[in-house]
Amino acid sequence: MGSAVVQITLFGLLLALVIALPNKDDWDIYNFYINSTVTSRYATTVITSRVANRMNEPKEIEFQVRIPKNAFISKFRMHIDGQDYNGVVKAKEQAQQQYTHAVSRGQSAGLVSSVGRTLEEFKTSVTVAAHKKVTFELTYEELLKRRLGKYELQIHARPMQPVKDFKVDVHINENAGINFIEVKGGLTTGVLANTTTIQKDADKQAWLYFYPTEDQQKTCQGCGDQGLNGDLVIVYDVNRDTSLGDIKTSDGYFVHHFAPYNLPRIPKNVVFIIDQSGSMHGKKIQQTRTALIHILKDLAEDDYFGLITFDSSIFHWKRELVQATEENLGSARTFARAIQDRGATDINAAVLEGARMLNLHPREGSASILILLTDGDPTTGVTNLETIQSNVRKAIADKFPLYCLGFGFDVNFEFLEKMSLQNNGVARRIYEDSDADLQLKGFYEEVATPLLTDVTMTYVGSTNLTQTTFSQYYNGSEIVVAGQLIDNNVETFIPQVVAISKNQRIVFSDPTATTESTKTVSDNRIQRVWAYLTVKQLLEKELQLSGPEKDKVEKEALRLSLKYSFVTPLTSMVVTKPQGENTDVLHKPKEGEKPDPVRPRGGAPQVMGHGGGYRLFAGSMYTSPPF
Ligand SMILES: *[C@@H]1O[C@H](CO)[C@@H](O)[C@H](O)[C@H]1NC(C)=O
Ligand SMILES: *[C@@H]1O[C@H](CO)[C@@H](O)[C@H](O)[C@H]1NC(C)=O
Ligand SMILES: *[C@@H]1O[C@H](CO)[C@@H](O)[C@H](O)[C@H]1NC(C)=O
Ligand SMILES: *[C@@H]1O[C@H](CO)[C@@H](O)[C@H](O)[C@H]1NC(C)=O
Repeated sequence: MGSAVVQITLFGLLLALVIALPNKDDWDIYNFYINSTVTSRYATTVITSRVANRMNEPKEIEFQVRIPKNAFISKFRMHIDGQDYNGVVKAKEQAQQQYTHAVSRGQSAGLVSSVGRTLEEFKTSVTVAAHKKVTFELTYEELLKRRLGKYELQIHARPMQPVKDFKVDVHINENAGINFIEVKGGLTTGVLANTTTIQKDADKQAWLYFYPTEDQQKTCQGCGDQGLNGDLVIVYDVNRDTSLGDIKTSDGYFVHHFAPYNLPRIPKNVVFIIDQSGSMHGKKIQQTRTALIHILKDLAEDDYFGLITFDSSIFHWKRELVQATEENLGSARTFARAIQDRGATDINAAVLEGARMLNLHPREGSASILILLTDGDPTTGVTNLETIQSNVRKAIADKFPLYCLGFGFDVNFEFLEKMSLQNNGVARRIYEDSDADLQLKGFYEEVATPLLTDVTMTYVGSTNLTQTTFSQYYNGSEIVVAGQLIDNNVETFIPQVVAISKNQRIVFSDPTATTESTKTVSDNRIQRVWAYLTVKQLLEKELQLSGPEKDKVEKEALRLSLKYSFVTPLTSMVVTKPQGENTDVLHKPKEGEKPDPVRPRGGAPQVMGHGGGYRLFAGSMYTSPPF
């Protein structure tokens, strides 16, 4: 009964949305610019678009763009009729309370929603008088993460119609020197193959530009009458030195990028824990087998490994870790090929067994790693999530990292994320798709080559540091630490890294080197890198805590989000508009929220494109009590 009423209400809301939907034929996009500046791996991207209402009456004009999930929106502005309307970042609860009324009437649907694997959609609209113009300007910021030896900056272009004046400009400044740079993505194929130009200046700077003509915007791959629709992905890496790495200071803050490369690999002990419960049936279990067989091929002869599958019981290939000899690998592959889906999910017993195997196998000068792959929640054995987390933490006792791979969207990703973070690892989502085996293999490659363990970074003469201890450092990745200099004094600042390499303790320090400092007065970028990293890490910490400690961490994360105007899961952007119009309240979706599928163009009715808005009403966002 109750659900029928809800459904009818929802249908009514959907209908209202369809009727009220802005019609993009009513407007003309004069220009659309995407400008991105990357300095020391910190990317600040500004999207500006000038749009005119071409009708003889006031019309609602929409601005809809996609930005990387990892980024924080930091600014939004509309310029109409000589007047600026600035978005204001507020505490989420406060924004919610203030505007719940308008939102609950279904008059305002602004929010950021998750799209595809890596993007979020930002959407707002404003009413513009006949033949008047509006300029939208959105800024977002992100610290690029080094994976498998490279950084990737993703730029998504989808202005919704061909644009006379369309430009993408990317400026990269890396004082360490740009080692290589290339551009990939859908917008670099077909007729657009040669439209992206990269200019390098003395290795420290690169400028990439992409100015496709209106015709090119219609005929490129994936593009059509509605113009561009695709990505440019700028891929690059910087030069590395063999010691302390790249340290930059500015305005009392520093950021340190540490990624030594010329170290020997440390042999590893790895245990794979593979979920074979009934829900893995079909393609998932098939892809898991394929990935596992590939991964087994990549183990080195001095690695040791173990393999467990589980449903409501545990199945060992061997009860203890064995050396990755040809013979053992062959036998493990045979075991992997025979993995079948069946039964329930006992995550607790499986992870404890994996930890037991690694604990029984201490080996001087090696690095241990536990990898769990699952596609569901614990359904048998111990199923209380907190009890599992506590058991796992006790069993691992900070001795090695636990990586959790959540396959698909039936997993409780937050549970996996929390469990990984509590054990020095990370969680990664594996998307159910034709390339799932490659995603699995890709993740494994990131941790396949440990170069250092027990990494401790110290910075005499500094304070308010981001995370400084790391259980392992892998080839192709990077450790980033930021902090504040005491009294803005570079002279007393002494960075040092201590870590265990293969069988020896190494101290990385460089007493002769002077830290590079940029003294431009207005350059607060290093400070923003510090703020970005601090907020990201506080949000991760908050996830692991409870009670008053959680509140304290959350409060600090909120304070910094507000101070630096970041739209994080704790804040919202309130988009102010001309008098008489509804205010939009934009939230960042929670990590793990199911994304809208990226739909083929022109297929589904337009209301489907507003899946995010739909979920806003259907979900619990406005009805649940504040957490
Ligand atoms: C963005 O790039 C365009 C074209 O290169 C330029 O005209 C414009 O001033 C830039 N805008 C910003 C905000 O940097
Ligand atoms: C792009 O440039 C390459 C090399 O200059 C050329 O071989 C290729 O045909 C060009 N592609 C297009 C679509 O113009
Ligand atoms: C680390 O990666 C670099 C670049 O891919 C490679 O040249 C080097 O051999 C790798 N080091 C080890 C120990 O595998
Ligand atoms: C460190 O941060 C705290 C607030 O979190 C601030 O009160 C303090 O001034 C900062 N320390 C320095 C040396 O700036």
